[in-house]
Amino acid sequence: MGIEKVGVVGFGAMGSGIAQVCAVAGFHVRVRDVEQRFLDRGRDRIAESLARIVKAGRLTDEQARAALGRIHGTLALADLADCDLVVEAVVEEIGAKNAVFAELDEVCGPAAIFTSNTSSLTIVEMATATRRADRFAGLHFFNPPMMMRLVEIVQAITTSDATIEVLRSFVSRLGHTGVVSRDTTGFIVNRLLQPYLNSAVRLLEQGVATAEQIDAAMKLGLGHPMGPLELIDYTGVDIIYHIGNIFFEEFRDPALAPPSLLRRMYLAGRLGVKSGRGFYEYDVKGKRKT
Ligand code: 3HC
Repeated sequence: MGIEKVGVVGFGAMGSGIAQVCAVAGFHVRVRDVEQRFLDRGRDRIAESLARIVKAGRLTDEQARAALGRIHGTLALADLADCDLVVEAVVEEIGAKNAVFAELDEVCGPAAIFTSNTSSLTIVEMATATRRADRFAGLHFFNPPMMMRLVEIVQAITTSDATIEVLRSFVSRLGHTGVVSRDTTGFIVNRLLQPYLNSAVRLLEQGVATAEQIDAAMKLGLGHPMGPLELIDYTGVDIIYHIGNIFFEEFRDPALAPPSLLRRMYLAGRLGVKSGRGFYEYDVKGKRKT
């Protein structure tokens, strides 16, 4: 089965990035969010990102306009009825995700494939809430999806090999690289990333080095584009804190539990770039001040 029409549920940072990647690759995309202002904000975010790509000479103005024209926002999940593939990117809560999938299961055709962009939840728990557990998988993009070329394709114990093959071919049509992972909490990247980010926060807590020194060490010493504390600010302190709790719940490994400082930053609303302050301070455009 070929994929032509893609549905995306949730027009936040990840949903808008995923919609953008699909539209740039030539797919028609229907995106659903719950309020018009979220649809408007997602569209603005895509227009801004496309403008940067045009400026960098990687797309023409015309290609960018055509990509934007292939994205249609809606407030109704029923408008995703004729999609061949749906990527869910709503909040990281099993109840919210399963409610979306239950409704989609009623409106979409039986052959449609459902996927979740979850970072830390269990795919089989969502798959079995639908009547198409064999056509259900994880499709995990990385932030920002236009720049990060990896997609983890997650095979739950219920996912058919045929579904994985369709998703492999879809991901390569996006110009991304697909890596297949089993349905274990955190898959490959976050399973390795989470203890690394926690360790960086613990080094800071223990006064081993300053935030700047920790980030400079990892950028210059290992060639990473961002240091670990910058990456937490970029991804969101709330996201990393929330993922840490889910990981700890699953594995009971203290290395995966969110460090005290991260919890306190979360409680204080120091969420990183999006709140203007995390480990560093940012202006309203998200540019680093300190
Ligand atoms: N859209 C389009 N183009 C973009 C872009 C975006 N969102 N972000 C960066 N670019 C392009 C632009 O051409 C930009 O040039 P411009 O500033 O003149 O427009 C160029 O990249 C360089 O960007 P920056 O100067 O902002 O900075 P960098 O060179 O550091 O690149 C970055 C930005 C690509 C985000 C790079 O820092 C990076 O790769 N960081 C690591 C990100 C990462 O690790 N992501 C994974 C997070 S984990 C995750 O997502 C999993 C989840 O489950 C938690």
